[in-house]
Amino acid sequence: MSLRRLRIQELRNIHDAELDLARVNVFAGANGSGKTSILEAVYLLGSGRSFRSSRLEPVINHEASGCVVHALVSDAQHASPLSIGVARRRDGEFEGRIQGRTVQNTAELARCLPVQLINSDSFDLLEGGPKSRRQFLDWGVFHVEQEFHGVWLDVQRVLRQRNALIRHARIAPDQLEAWDTRLSASAERLDGFRRQYFEAFYPQFTATLADLANIEGIELSYQRGWDKERGLLEVLRDQHDRDRERGFTVSGPHRADIRLRLHGQSADEVLSRGQQKLVVCAMKVAQARIFTVARGRACVFLVDDLPAELDRKHRQALCSLLSSLNCQVMVSCVERSDLEDCWPLVPPDELRLFHVEQGLSGGTVV
Ligand SMILES: Nc1ncnc2c1ncn2[C@@H]1O[C@H](COP(=O)(O)OP(=O)(O)OP(=O)(O)O)[C@@H](O)[C@H]1O
Ligand SMILES: [Mg+2]
Repeated sequence: MSLRRLRIQELRNIHDAELDLARVNVFAGANGSGKTSILEAVYLLGSGRSFRSSRLEPVINHEASGCVVHALVSDAQHASPLSIGVARRRDGEFEGRIQGRTVQNTAELARCLPVQLINSDSFDLLEGGPKSRRQFLDWGVFHVEQEFHGVWLDVQRVLRQRNALIRHARIAPDQLEAWDTRLSASAERLDGFRRQYFEAFYPQFTATLADLANIEGIELSYQRGWDKERGLLEVLRDQHDRDRERGFTVSGPHRADIRLRLHGQSADEVLSRGQQKLVVCAMKVAQARIFTVARGRACVFLVDDLPAELDRKHRQALCSLLSSLNCQVMVSCVERSDLEDCWPLVPPDELRLFHVEQGLSGGTVV
């Protein structure tokens, strides 16, 4: 799957740009020229969200009343390219369309255009709290397990209800138990999906990291969010008093995590910055490999400021790895020379270099 023609209107400093994309696309340009904004536009198309802000309003050009991103996406499963578009107006209205039909939710966009992002926030996978690792894990499960999304939504819903009940001053224990039963039924399924995915992910990650760097001894473990010896129902029942005291459900799949350790220490406390980036890249690439095998299609890779933190040898290793995936790749860098000689495996007609200037308004394509 890949984006063929991409049109971006009134997004950040990009007023109106139309790009013909190849399989590997390098966006080079000065600070503030609009490179990240191009990647942000693609991310918006594939998720309905920005990776820079939780709200979409800052994404709209200061002078405009709304932004639009549209692309033609070609896919082995469809004979002619699919049309995907999103529009966000300043008054808050958001619309996503696939083949002219308005989508019901952003999950439809994600299924149609799976996007993997590597940027400076990706370090959160190592340095941040469990939430980012849980989101990472769930991206993978969402795309390979059709039933995951429904079960995940159910867990969120039941958890909200149970938490609301816990905060009530007087509730009968059997009222809470009804929610314990519902929560544990969905949570055990969610845990099953996540565990199965993790078992496929771990060896893929180890192999991918070996392709990229010489960092040995990283151990990953999946933590499901409650005692590994006991079922969630039993744990929830035992913790009624504690949950009431804290005002929320202390144990459950909403506390799941992946732990990364190296020689018994937390990986982020041991690895250098460059090594952390390589580990993060290996995680994302491993996930893309699993996705490709499971779905028979590739995702789009966005790598913002690829050269940052990496020496030439590791830049080349990462670019070779990305080239070998058969995914469409969109990467940014400040100096185009930083990524020269990095794509020997890519035939010239599959590689495009875009020189980004002032939001591509007078942009040139080299
Ligand atoms: N809503 C907006 N309207 C207009 N311009 C904006 C808006 N939001 C951000 N900008 C500007 O858009 C420009 C492009 O930003 P972007 O982050 O894409 O640049 P970049 O090429 O990635 O730069 P860097 O190399 O520093 O990462 C910046 O000058 C920024 O100040
Ligand atoms: Mg940038």
